[in-house]
Amino acid sequence: MNQPYDHPDMPKQWMEGMVPTMNDKGYMFEVLDHIAEEFIEYSGSSGKPALEVGCAYGIATIAALKNGAEITACDMEQRHLDVLRERAPASLRDKLTTRVGKLPDIDLPENTFGSLLCSRVLHFLYGRDVDQSVANMFRWLQPGGRLFLVADTPYGIWRNFIPIFEERVANGERWPGEMEKPVRYLPFEGRNEDGGPPVMNLLCPDQLIRTAEEAGFMVERAEFIDRPDFRPPGRMDGRENCGLVAVKPV
Ligand SMILES: C[S@@+](CC[C@H](N)C(=O)[O-])C[C@H]1O[C@@H](n2cnc3c(N)ncnc32)[C@H](O)[C@@H]1O
Repeated sequence: MNQPYDHPDMPKQWMEGMVPTMNDKGYMFEVLDHIAEEFIEYSGSSGKPALEVGCAYGIATIAALKNGAEITACDMEQRHLDVLRERAPASLRDKLTTRVGKLPDIDLPENTFGSLLCSRVLHFLYGRDVDQSVANMFRWLQPGGRLFLVADTPYGIWRNFIPIFEERVANGERWPGEMEKPVRYLPFEGRNEDGGPPVMNLLCPDQLIRTAEEAGFMVERAEFIDRPDFRPPGRMDGRENCGLVAVKPV
């Protein structure tokens, strides 16, 4: 059985399945999407080292470990990695390396990993840093290595931003989802507009495809992801997240 999320700095969890981060970078979702499941499946059977970037408390990393992967788990917040290490099954800890680091520039070896998951992290970065991060992911993967990305779109909790996003897309802007003081676009009453992350950059499949192709990847798929478990405030429209699977050419 997994250990609880035990740390003196841990914010109180107010919604089942949503584990708050300790650095105001949203929540780790305990329900995995199909892109994370594909990463877990592949990394457990490929026989090649795996990498997760922005792992939080390691919901996907621990599942990959249990599935047979040898994995490096990376996050900008050391306290998240401390909780992850505690929660990892003791018998599998020798297959787990943790590394604190912040995208876009993390000190990781080139041509090393067979698979890489970065789930719901890129939308915290300005566009130029998204491009730089994905270019670095290309360097960290071995030839033939598989990239799995997931990001927030404007069609989930940030839906008050949809008109601005769609107008910017129509105007051909490169990063239509960049927004400062993002909390003002949440559809909740009484929100503190000065709270939350200072910037968000909502993404759709088109932006994921472009950044991956410009970095040199061959894109296999990019799609919207339905997250019926996201709440509040109730059912959204089936495009809450987007995901991409791509390969570094041999
Ligand atoms: C919203 S949580 C996502 C957690 C998990 N991957 C998931 O999909 O549920 C974002 C995580 O990414 C980390 N993070 C945010 N920006 C980062 C950056 N620039 N570099 C590395 N980690 C980052 C945060 O510390 C946090 O643990």
